[in-house]
Formats: sequence, structure tokens, C-alpha cells
Amino acid sequence: AIDPNFETNREKVGEENGVAVWGPVDPPEQRGIHGTHVAVDYDICIADGACLEDCPVDVFTWVDTPGHPESEIKVEPTHEDQCIDCMLCVDVCPVDAIDVDPG
Ligand code: SF4
Ligand code: F3S
Repeated sequence: AIDPNFETNREKVGEENGVAVWGPVDPPEQRGIHGTHVAVDYDICIADGACLEDCPVDVFTWVDTPGHPESEIKVEPTHEDQCIDCMLCVDVCPVDAIDVDPG
């Protein structure tokens, strides 16, 4: 599962699609955690898609991650600023790849 303390335990290494990326990253196999308020661990996500389908405010967008061992697409929390903290995405993800931090 995603580390809920990633902001302490990892370092921000850059941005992709306007979203913070928390390392380590070593593409294509290791892509880090994407987002801050709504965070997706790209190295855990298997592209199930339930988060994107269920989010009531369309926070997520598909992006390509060719060569990643778990899945070749991932969800980017592109509109994490719109999140209403409903926690649906956290609850439906089958591999616990998402952390939402109300507060
Ligand atoms: Fe969307 Fe709710 Fe997840 Fe926020 S917590 S990203 S509003 S599903
Ligand atoms: Fe990935 Fe979980 Fe969403 S596997 S696509 S973060 S439901």
C-alpha cells in the first residue's frame, strides 16, 4: 500500500502534468508517487480504473507509463485541487495505491 507519510519519507523530485512527483524515480520501472493532496503510488497502481470512474469531481486523468511492470497506464490526479475528500477513490482501489489527506 501507499505510504501515507510519503511527504516526510520521500523527496519531491519534480512535476509531471502539473502534479508533484515524489521519488525515487527510475523510469520506466520506477515512477514514484504522483500528487500531494491526492496521491497515487505509480509503482503500485495496476490501472484498475475504479478511482477514475467513481470520483464525483473528475480529479483523475489517464496517462501513459510504457514499460512499467504493473501497468502501462496510470491515473494522474490532475485536478487534485478539486477534491472534496469523499474518500471513494481510496476505498475502491483494489491495491491501496491512493492516499487522500484531508486537512
Ligand atoms: Fe475524487 Fe473523492 Fe478521491 Fe477526492 S477523495 S479524488 S473527490 S474520489
Ligand atoms: Fe490505479 Fe487503484 Fe485507480 S489501481 S487506476 S489507483 S483504482
